[in-house]
Amino acid sequence: MARITASVFTSHVPAIGAALDLGKDHEPYWQKVFSGYDFSKQWMKENRPDVVFLVYNDHANAFSLEMIPTFAIGTAAEFPIADEGWGPRPVPKVVGHPELASHIAQSVIQDDFDLTIVNKMAVDHGLTVPLSLMCGKLDPLRDAWPCPVIPFAVNVVQYPVPSGRRCWNLGRAIRKAVQSFDADLKVHIWGTGGMSHQLQGPRAGLINAEWDNRFLDRLIAEPEELAKVPHIEYVREAGSEGIELVMWLIARGAMNDAPPRVRHRFFHVPASNTAVGHLILENT
Ligand code: DHB
Ligand code: FE
Repeated sequence: MARITASVFTSHVPAIGAALDLGKDHEPYWQKVFSGYDFSKQWMKENRPDVVFLVYNDHANAFSLEMIPTFAIGTAAEFPIADEGWGPRPVPKVVGHPELASHIAQSVIQDDFDLTIVNKMAVDHGLTVPLSLMCGKLDPLRDAWPCPVIPFAVNVVQYPVPSGRRCWNLGRAIRKAVQSFDADLKVHIWGTGGMSHQLQGPRAGLINAEWDNRFLDRLIAEPEELAKVPHIEYVREAGSEGIELVMWLIARGAMNDAPPRVRHRFFHVPASNTAVGHLILENT
């Protein structure tokens, strides 16, 4: 049967993608960010998954503000790279896993979570920047990402957004779905976005490193308690875009009940306007 072996958590700052694409990753400012992922790239090679289930948010690229699904699962065979206004990032297209994605949709919807089925979708920096951080720079034509990816988009852009509790329980339902897929697949689940940042309004530029690190501590040690934190605390403490962190609870909720093994932890300020946080947790 399929099984979730690890979860990965990382911020998704678009400027990180631009820095890598433009060959600026060795400049001192960016080197400090990328150095936090040296271990992770090696770990990805040594622990290559068969599928990545990648929880992220679209930034009004695939879904305009005309139609905003709360939870959307990508069931297509492949996903093109979104043009976010300056051309698509020069990275390989994303290959999906329609069989596992459809199975997860079936199982999770029957478990009372309303998912939107998406058969055609471009993926933006929310998905491609975490892939670049974990897999390094790849040639868009000659290379491929190391494995198929199931995009799972969560609305954290337009209120109302899902609660931490709902994200946690959804993770539980995804775990059950993966474990009932009849193929010997090693699956990684990624929670992306965050950490603290606010891109607009009088508090633009807000970073709260203390709150972020406490979030990392609690995500590791007491995630179910962390899932009770209301939205207003994310917004007050981590800024209006800090609410992206609620997605990390989906990936954490999909892990085993036993405490995970912390393989890697990294935190750095700043990258563009955000704090960068990163964790690799393995099921024990
Ligand atoms: C920035 C961060 C984000 O999460 C995002 O989606 C867009 C911009 C930033 O730091 O600039
Ligand atoms: Fe974002």
